[in-house]
Amino acid sequence: MVKVILKDGIYWVGVVDWNIRDFHDYVTYRGSSYNAYLIQDEKTALVDTVKAAFCNELIAHVSELTSFEKIDYIIVNHVEMDHSSSLPIIAKLAKNAKIFATARGKEELIKHYGTEFERVETVKSGDKISLGKKTLTFLEAPMLHWPDSMFTYIIEDKVLMPNDAFGQHLASSGRFDDEVDQEILMEEAITYYSNILMPFAPLIVKKIQEVVAMNIPIDMIAPSHGIIWRKDPMKIVNAYMDWCTGKAEQKKVIIVFDTMWESTNKMARAIGDGIASQGIEVKLLKLRATGETDIVTEITTSKVVLVGSPTLNNGMFPTVGMFMTYVTGLKPKGKQWGFFGSYGWGGGAVRGMVKLAKEAGFEVMEPSLELKWVPTEEELKKCFDYGVQIAQKLKA
Ligand code: FEO
Repeated sequence: MVKVILKDGIYWVGVVDWNIRDFHDYVTYRGSSYNAYLIQDEKTALVDTVKAAFCNELIAHVSELTSFEKIDYIIVNHVEMDHSSSLPIIAKLAKNAKIFATARGKEELIKHYGTEFERVETVKSGDKISLGKKTLTFLEAPMLHWPDSMFTYIIEDKVLMPNDAFGQHLASSGRFDDEVDQEILMEEAITYYSNILMPFAPLIVKKIQEVVAMNIPIDMIAPSHGIIWRKDPMKIVNAYMDWCTGKAEQKKVIIVFDTMWESTNKMARAIGDGIASQGIEVKLLKLRATGETDIVTEITTSKVVLVGSPTLNNGMFPTVGMFMTYVTGLKPKGKQWGFFGSYGWGGGAVRGMVKLAKEAGFEVMEPSLELKWVPTEEELKKCFDYGVQIAQKLKA
């Protein structure tokens, strides 16, 4: 492998997963990477490992730089298996290495891989490990992405290794932000944020503010997925602030729906026409045509989300039920939600969606819009007017 050098003595030793398309149901169209880093000084440290299927590649990359016996420290920033499932093998090879994780990380490692990880030493925010000229320090970052997560910062090199935060599921031959297409990079960064980190937006804002208050210089951000931000590390930090706080929202409405015998589709189109008639951008996203991964990415930059479902067996259409489960788990903040649908006899879909949305704490616009059987011209006019009202409220 051509050596990938972040800074003098700091190397990328991760792997590129070109073919992954399903990351726990997040559709990763452009693959991913699992980034691990080797830091060589008087002491040698390995930061994170990779998914077990790629362990041999990690071993080969490390072996080109050093022997495993010479690794003094293994830092586990995060226990999720895409980063830790090679650890049982790596820990055996690096038999002289001390392993460090947060207290929760230690607990999780033991539960995942057994009591041999009782030997893990715990670190907390502010703790330091000297490698010689380089010093590692840690910042706990619970829920970014799991309770165990932490960031590692190399003080003298000003390199932040925040694991999942600021990553992207993007396989590429380039390892740095200046080596890839910027539009694709930011598209994958917002998709990653929306599908992985969105529920923790308030924690991300706090963590960024905490780092800013610490006044630590950052030359480079080296996450555990995708490219390393070296040209403009603040680009992704600022983007996260915009996504987390709603600053990136546009006056845009998305209509997410499915349809059984076209009635809900006709409603969606009429509502969309009403919104567009007021000069407001609207997108119609039919489930089964657009996947949930892309829909939640659209939600990050939209102010209003309308969800439509036909009633099937007194409840939501199955695809809409799945979407509601996914999106209420991700808890997008600061959006306005509206619900509509059609039914044949007793209804139930709209009732079910509103219930789930309210339970998730969403701001629901009422009344919802429901109609029986096939919409008449008059009912389609009502749908159009519903769209007009939403657009006018958004313009105000
Ligand atoms: Fe990339 Fe939360 O693991």
